[in-house]
Amino acid sequence: ALDPTVARPLAGRKVAISLGGTREPLDPVRFLGNRSSGRQGFALAAAARRMGADVTVVAGSIEAHPPRGLPLVRVGSAVEMREAMLAASADADVAIMAAAVADFRPVSVGAHKIKKTDGVSAPTIELVQNPDILAELVELSGPSQVVIGFAAETGDASGSALEHARAKARRKGADLLVFNDVAAAEVFGSGDNSVVFLDRDGGTVGAAAGSKADVAAAVLAAACDLLGE
Ligand code: CTP
Ligand code: CA
Repeated sequence: ALDPTVARPLAGRKVAISLGGTREPLDPVRFLGNRSSGRQGFALAAAARRMGADVTVVAGSIEAHPPRGLPLVRVGSAVEMREAMLAASADADVAIMAAAVADFRPVSVGAHKIKKTDGVSAPTIELVQNPDILAELVELSGPSQVVIGFAAETGDASGSALEHARAKARRKGADLLVFNDVAAAEVFGSGDNSVVFLDRDGGTVGAAAGSKADVAAAVLAAACDLLGE
């Protein structure tokens, strides 16, 4: 039943997908945000649904239009996304973190709009680290669950993008980390994508390139393989 070449290999399976960016409130009208179109996440949701899965999408802020008829659980902050993803993943066979989660949030949220006063220096925003949702999903996952993360990396003086991604794969412990080299392809908001699949030891276990729909299909085929193991 988990053969990805059959028509609906995920029939009877539940897939939870987070996508979009989180918005970390600063005061009643302002936030610190993470940019994410949501396109790759929606492509994953469409592919999972086509493969027969019962799909739950937890969506932060998005620029793309959701596929027709796909219900969304809307969230704002990383803390809200954590709650919604833990709930959606509890009985899911596959959990995918395609969201751009803000790494930090303001320590406190003002009850009133922050005002500016001439002659008074600009406020300093103190930040605290957000929970690592992917790491928690890995921690909570049962032996038959598959947890998938995404990582967009760039190379720098301390290593190549791929080296950073391998280190992240080992750190996160997800069953699959989908790595894309940001410098190699302009992925943000664009239609195309090129990715490498890493296992929890940082080893390369696959690759995919093409449209976001092509990449999504490859990611879900890999999920089917992992479910079948
Ligand atoms: N992620 C998450 N919770 C966070 C941050 C990230 O679940 N608080 C997930 C993302 O959705 C993605 C994966 O972790 O699937 C990798 O995100 P990334 O930002 O690349 O990793 P970080 O651990 O935040 O490391 P970095 O310092 O490089 O941003
Ligand atoms: Ca991050």
